Amino acid sequence: MKIHRHDVVIVGGGGAGLMAALYAGKEVDTAVISKLYPTRSHTGAAQGGIGAALGNLENDSWEWHAFDTVKGSDYLADQDAVETMCKEAVDVVFELEHMGLPFDRTPEGKISQRRFGGHTNNETKQPVLRACNAADRTGHMILQTLYQQCIKHNVNFFDEFQMVDLIMEGAECRGVVAYEIAGGEIHVFHAKAVMLAIGGWGPVWNITSNAHTLTGDGAAVTLRHGLPLQDMEFFQFHPTGLAKLGILITEAVRGEGGVLINGKGERFMPKYAPTVKELASRDVVSRAIYLEVRAGNGVDGKDYVHLDITPPVVNKFFKEDDSRTPNGELRHIDAEFVQTKLEDITDFCKTYVGVDPTIQPIPVQPTAHYAMGGIPTDIDTRVYASENNEVAAGLYAAGECACVSVHGGNRLGTNSLLDIVVFGRRGGKTMAQDVKGKDFAPIDAEKAAAAVVTRFEALRNSAGTESVSAIKEEMQLLMTDKVSVFREKAGIAAAVKQLRDLKRRYRNIKIEDKGKLFNTDLLEAWQLGNLLDLALVTAESALARQESRGAHAREDFKKRDDQNWLKHTLAYKDDEDHVTLKYKPVTITGYQPKERVY
Ligand code: FUM
Repeated sequence: MKIHRHDVVIVGGGGAGLMAALYAGKEVDTAVISKLYPTRSHTGAAQGGIGAALGNLENDSWEWHAFDTVKGSDYLADQDAVETMCKEAVDVVFELEHMGLPFDRTPEGKISQRRFGGHTNNETKQPVLRACNAADRTGHMILQTLYQQCIKHNVNFFDEFQMVDLIMEGAECRGVVAYEIAGGEIHVFHAKAVMLAIGGWGPVWNITSNAHTLTGDGAAVTLRHGLPLQDMEFFQFHPTGLAKLGILITEAVRGEGGVLINGKGERFMPKYAPTVKELASRDVVSRAIYLEVRAGNGVDGKDYVHLDITPPVVNKFFKEDDSRTPNGELRHIDAEFVQTKLEDITDFCKTYVGVDPTIQPIPVQPTAHYAMGGIPTDIDTRVYASENNEVAAGLYAAGECACVSVHGGNRLGTNSLLDIVVFGRRGGKTMAQDVKGKDFAPIDAEKAAAAVVTRFEALRNSAGTESVSAIKEEMQLLMTDKVSVFREKAGIAAAVKQLRDLKRRYRNIKIEDKGKLFNTDLLEAWQLGNLLDLALVTAESALARQESRGAHAREDFKKRDDQNWLKHTLAYKDDEDHVTLKYKPVTITGYQPKERVY
């Protein structure tokens, strides 16, 4: 066992972790533990843009952005947090620009902006140009930029270290236990402040835009320490994943004029969202695709539709009014435009499904994309230990694993990149402030390490009969079948029962690789335990919520019910299989809940 000491330890090398590390690292000794090399983190998969009301191309304001975000969330987001995020968006985007992020430019040299779902001019109700982008690799560019800045500011990196436990004394966090992937050695990180910025858990479902590495480790570990997870029933399905594969095809394709076409060759979104059509919020568009498929209107009778960004000359669905911006200018969609502004997705389509999007429609279906719920925090990333908002001292969370809550029931596209940089920055500053003049609280490093060694040795030497990959696949198919875009009581209840059974079988798994070097067999087994816990909490939270709101669409309770359900769910895990649910109110500052119309 090795012991390290840093004032601040951040788990996760994605955008939230790096932004927090940069700000903490400027003031105090800071380390980042990441199971990947940081620039391979999943932030790199966010394509289309980061939302900020710069108003570079048309009129916009942070207040419009805040209203759109609250409306998009189906009024479940905490409005103080939303206002903080949208107000700080403008400044944080300029800060990224000044750090060197290579944003696309307008002809005058300003940061270029594009349309995205749910972002509107609040007066005309039409889509607004708000997403600041670097072609279709905005997240990738954010990662590169922040990593370089962290190196410049001497942040310590521990790459390819898997966080496996938190060191908690009551409700206070004093460090982290990590497993070094290369050699299997246990490392104890003693810290004054620990931040979890460790991403989501899309692989709970079988079609996902998420990397294989997103296994919800941070959320699962906090849950095991008796801390709650908030609003877990709300998991976003992005409408346009590549059919069968789930790989993200950015919403920017629709923002730039792409249209959705069913198997009968009809453009169907005007039926579901007459004003903004393809640029409705993601929950609305994903449900529309499901309903088309259910009505037998999938392409070739299958479970996908087409996303068409072929130029107007080729694309018969592209009417003249669609090809004009609100200012009346002609939109310039031609093959060169697609290849330069949507370069990565052009490549993905050619590589993975053999489709050239400049001349052929792209086969797409909803894909598990983003956790709106997670570890509850205040707007400075301090983790809440209960539904009464008591704080877990020394513990912070930011990014997708956290629930601050700015996304509520449904996140708008581009607000994930915004969330990570705004709250990463706030968290970095807060941690630096909180640890100054504070001593390291004592820990029993031997005991913390021994607990992990016992658990991992038991896993490594287990002589069970069950296969990790088989249990994982069963969980993914079950969740896709019963707890995805649509859900209802009997299906969710069956999922809860079967998840308990999978968890029982998980206790009898077999690990083939008994070695220590790069034992991914062992790590994947441990990660499956995390996914199973999160799946169970998701299903239990979904079963209890008897209404439809945002991404939680109950077929047996079709309407939103503000009277009874305008509240956040807090899920606690009491033992291996039992989940207790509590609730707390949503913070409303001024936007009173209304019916959502797009
Ligand atoms: O569609 C996209 O480019 C994804 C962005 C996001 O999830 O915010």
